[in-house]
Amino acid sequence: MNVRARRYYVRLAHVGWVEGRGPMPRTVSDGFSEFLTRIQPNQAEVNARRSHKRTIDQALGGAFKKFNRLEIIGSHTRDTAIRYHSDVDYLAVLGKEDVSHGGYITQSSTVLKNVRDVLADRFKSTDVRIDGPAVVVRFQGGEGAVDVVPGYWKGTTGRDGYPLFAIPDATGGWIDTAPQRHGKYLGEREVASGYKLSRVVRLLKAWKYARSPKIPFLAFHVEILLASDGLCDGVKGYGTCLRDAFRRLRDRKAVALNDPLALSGRIPIVYTNVQAVRLVNYASHAATHADSALDAEYRGDMAEAFRQWRIVFNDAFPARR
Ligand SMILES: Nc1ncnc2c1ncn2[C@@H]1O[C@H](COP(=O)(O)OP(=O)(O)OP(=O)(O)O)[C@@H](O)[C@H]1O
Ligand SMILES: [Mg+2]
Repeated sequence: MNVRARRYYVRLAHVGWVEGRGPMPRTVSDGFSEFLTRIQPNQAEVNARRSHKRTIDQALGGAFKKFNRLEIIGSHTRDTAIRYHSDVDYLAVLGKEDVSHGGYITQSSTVLKNVRDVLADRFKSTDVRIDGPAVVVRFQGGEGAVDVVPGYWKGTTGRDGYPLFAIPDATGGWIDTAPQRHGKYLGEREVASGYKLSRVVRLLKAWKYARSPKIPFLAFHVEILLASDGLCDGVKGYGTCLRDAFRRLRDRKAVALNDPLALSGRIPIVYTNVQAVRLVNYASHAATHADSALDAEYRGDMAEAFRQWRIVFNDAFPARR
């Protein structure tokens, strides 16, 4: 193993993505099952991150007059989180008074800075920084990151009465979000897909993190895209779902998506043109190799099918043994 390969292997080992102890993968389907097991969140790791909830809660409660509560949102509430890389997301529900000045809503960038200052003061020896719509607290000791997304309550989603919040966009403004309502929608789409949707989303996240730097895309967009397309519906293997997802990502050219529930407006997939180009190139590369993997599997050439999936996932996919 050369130095680069070794470093990469050490990184995979660090996040627990190397050889599992389960049955040896012989078929591609076994390979996907083993891969999904490897990337499953580790409960101890998730518990460790959640253990900071009360401290964050108290810090925000002390600093903001009308701080209401810390609510867990994101992939950990939906079974689409992956080991190590999926941050635990907290929506910090602030009061209107905490986010306005002279009757006007403050820029979200200012609110993010205020939240960052409070958390940096509380977690003095921890890396605390703003990343997109969140303040990221990066705990040591392999616990990974906790994202604190500041927001305020705006009302409800309409007749179904789910809470609607405003959270920062990446440009200083605010966007609407209704995590519980989106969760309900995604849950329905998960059932319609025969429970493949969440697994394919997890595999795409594994693809994202199998390269350094990671392939740039915002997971929420991809999850909503696959759900609203019905891309995982019907009798389809994971390989075919993935191939179709890569094609879709390649052909959509990284444009934002209209929220199918019309609650959040346009949902971006990347923030910059450079990221868009990288994403489309990687998706195109992955679509080509996924096609080759499916062809090989169809011919009965399992060694070649595994080799192609390992190209897609940059060797993170299990080897055929
Ligand atoms: N553009 C958006 N519009 C509305 N809500 C959003 C948007 N982006 C994120 N959210 C909300 O914030 C949550 C957390 O977003 P995040 O980017 O952490 O993705 P995630 O679904 O948790 O995936 P990951 O496992 O990669 O962290 C989402 O699940 C969604 O409820
Ligand atoms: Mg998340």
